[in-house]
Amino acid sequence: FGTSKINQKNHLEIGGCDTVELANQYGTPLFVYDVALIKAKARGFKKTFEDLDMKHRVVYASKAFTSLALYKLLAAEGLAFDVVSGGELHAALKAGVSPEMIEFHGNNKSAEELAMAVNVGIGTIVVDNFYEIELLKSILKETGKQQKILLRVSPGVDAHTHSYILTGQEDSKFGFDVKSGQAEQALQLVLADQGFDVIGIHCHIGSQIFGTEGFEAATEKMMAILLDWQSRFNFVASVLNLGGGFGVKYSDEDTPLEAPEYVKQIATMVKVSSQAAAYPLPEVWIEPGRSIVAEAGTTLYTVGSRKSVPNVRNFVSVDGGMGDNIRPALYDATYSAVVANRMTAPAEEVVTVTGKYCESGDKLITDIQLPILAATDILAIVTTGAYGYSMASVYNKNPRPAVVFVENGESQLVLRRETYDDLINLDVIN
Ligand code: LLP
Repeated sequence: FGTSKINQKNHLEIGGCDTVELANQYGTPLFVYDVALIKAKARGFKKTFEDLDMKHRVVYASKAFTSLALYKLLAAEGLAFDVVSGGELHAALKAGVSPEMIEFHGNNKSAEELAMAVNVGIGTIVVDNFYEIELLKSILKETGKQQKILLRVSPGVDAHTHSYILTGQEDSKFGFDVKSGQAEQALQLVLADQGFDVIGIHCHIGSQIFGTEGFEAATEKMMAILLDWQSRFNFVASVLNLGGGFGVKYSDEDTPLEAPEYVKQIATMVKVSSQAAAYPLPEVWIEPGRSIVAEAGTTLYTVGSRKSVPNVRNFVSVDGGMGDNIRPALYDATYSAVVANRMTAPAEEVVTVTGKYCESGDKLITDIQLPILAATDILAIVTTGAYGYSMASVYNKNPRPAVVFVENGESQLVLRRETYDDLINLDVIN
């Protein structure tokens, strides 16, 4: 992916940096992000809309991975940001992101979080439920402010036959249900209150989606809702937010399209159906998270112990694991790996790569064909840029890894490794 290649030392190189040297310099486990690839992904989404000559917002879903450096990088690329907590909002603001470019999501935002968002002048709040309408209404009344909002609807896209990480189906905790009339009831409530400036509607059908059917079904449904609400409530949306969820390739079994391809299809659908119905073309917003950062991230580990159970399994342990990548344990996610210090060594055995955590489920890769690994080898697990660091824990009091950005032969530490003292910093009795 991206700028990865094999250098003259037979080492994995990313962004012009030798990963074995990075491992020596910064220690392992280490997240390495290919900055050029992140930029290319961000630009790919923007270009898709520009080619279609459509007003748009590419809203990066911070939850996939954040650091102040990443907020700065993507803000400079013209992206907006989706935050889902006061913590993400705080971080985005600290990084200097313009509040106008921030969109606040979540199914249970607290009164404090909502007040914080309103007070900093956040661009958009994506209103998810009736309780939130009430909370926000009273905050807006108190502050005398008006707030741009999107209504999150659950379009009832039935994707049960696909292996989605579902969120847009009827049986979902997110958004107002359309079929039962809750969505239009919510619309009437917010239209009736001057505090709300209702700019449009939002849906997000799930994550790591491969087929185009789900996105197409959702887009069709959302356009139908807009046309219906125009005729019945005289409501015209200036924004249609279709969420994120564009799948990426973790291993050879995964066969996604390039993420902008999905966007091209749905944006074109919006354009065509708006024209057909003489509906004013809304701005299309999308919220990619994974597809911007997953492939740009690689985790470097140092190989340690091994255990071979004859005729059963070879376990090879590395110095990280479920603390820096919970996805295999949580979702049975699959990954692939290379030996960064011996890139062209022949793959001679099948091993299971495990971590160092006290948990049998602490596996990173089950049954992968690799060169015979020895202690001190540097194992690089690829495509770990999304939902790895951001879901990291300090289980077993293992410090969280460092994160470096690499580009044009330069590396930059963007998140330092946690120290043992960091791990007891919250203790108030010592
Ligand atoms: N927008 C909304 C409203 C979302 O809920 C999400 C993801 C996104 C955008 C970004 O989706 P993406 O483009 O990254 O697929 N921890 C899981 C993924 C959870 C996704 C949650 N919502 C994983 O590691 O697979």
